Amino acid sequence: MSAASTGPGSPFDVTLEEMRLHRSAKWSRVKADVLPAWTAEMDVRTAPAIAEALHTAVDRSDFGYAGHPKPVVDAFAGFARDVWDWDPVAGTGSVRVMGDVGVGVQEILRAVTSPGDRVMLNPPVYLSFYPWITGLGLVPDDVPMLDQDRGGRLDLEGIERSLAGGTRVVLLCSPHNPLGMVTPREDLAAVAHLARAHGALVIADEIHAPLVHPGSERQFVPFLAVSDAAREVGIALHSPSKAWNLAGLKLAVGVVADRSRWPAAMTGGLDWGAGILGQYAAVAAYTGGREWLDVVRREIEERAAQLQPLLAEHLPGVRYHRPSASYLAWLDCRELGLGDDPAQAFLERGRVLLSPGPAFGPGGTGFARLNIGTSQELMTEAVRRMASALDR
Ligand SMILES: Cc1ncc(COP(=O)(O)O)c(C=O)c1O
Repeated sequence: MSAASTGPGSPFDVTLEEMRLHRSAKWSRVKADVLPAWTAEMDVRTAPAIAEALHTAVDRSDFGYAGHPKPVVDAFAGFARDVWDWDPVAGTGSVRVMGDVGVGVQEILRAVTSPGDRVMLNPPVYLSFYPWITGLGLVPDDVPMLDQDRGGRLDLEGIERSLAGGTRVVLLCSPHNPLGMVTPREDLAAVAHLARAHGALVIADEIHAPLVHPGSERQFVPFLAVSDAAREVGIALHSPSKAWNLAGLKLAVGVVADRSRWPAAMTGGLDWGAGILGQYAAVAAYTGGREWLDVVRREIEERAAQLQPLLAEHLPGVRYHRPSASYLAWLDCRELGLGDDPAQAFLERGRVLLSPGPAFGPGGTGFARLNIGTSQELMTEAVRRMASALDR
């Protein structure tokens, strides 16, 4: 395998053999000869603080319904204050615990819209946004990202047109999946201003926020921290599930700047949908998982850099702009001649599973999303397999 490997002691120091034992979606929903590089799970050993907390839960056989949300709220608020200089519970701020971000988005949408309403999103964008919206009888209103080949930016004029045309909700992905773009403060402020002027709600999905790369030019700015307008129109959603790789433990939080802004029609017992192990893990992540997270962020940034020469060597036809956040690489494969959905050819001929570009909405045709939240060896193997799809 590659000369410079993921070092021992690294959270990413995992082997293919042990990963194949995992029952998580990424690893169990593929055939035995396929290397999975699709859904957003990382191949990492968990943070020591989280392992310890989960062992405590096991030792206590504490597997009942989710407990009182306060420890999670306090832990999240402490993390947000330290890392982003943002106090989500300042004044009348309110944090609510829920099962996951998907439940939160859909529950908010259900509470504030009627079937046929339009929800704006900025494709290519996280593929599950589409079924969440259409499943409620709502209509996705695409305002594609601009300058994708330079990392991407919001089309503020397009957003204004969409709002003027009656869009009820803006579903922001910040930082952006799959582009790995960290939204600038002024763009967030502009969206807030426009949403307020047109009476729209902004749901800011900030799930990837703890994973901004240490060397990123821009740091993460929480939507609710940008302006009074943002605090009036915004609901932010966070979770430790991406940054600490806890998706299966089921815990997310929603934040509003004033508790009166929770839509009245939202289900009262949302916090019962969280998992109790998610609660143990979230408290440990936000309070004791910072050092581990810093190592992981550094390594992801390295992986994003290592991918460039790797593609140049094995797949020179693929274009890739390094992300500034998270562990997803958005690959422009249009020059490879593999058609609209190159992930299909990579799977069929290379036995490596990427996420299909077209599912990310307009702008996804001819693209595929590679998960680089793994060891250097496994990322290298994924690229080799992709390249082998061209040879056959
Ligand atoms: C932007 C974004 N939002 C939401 C999710 C899903 O989060 P959850 O598992 O909390 O529903 C993901 C998962 O990859 C994501 O990338």
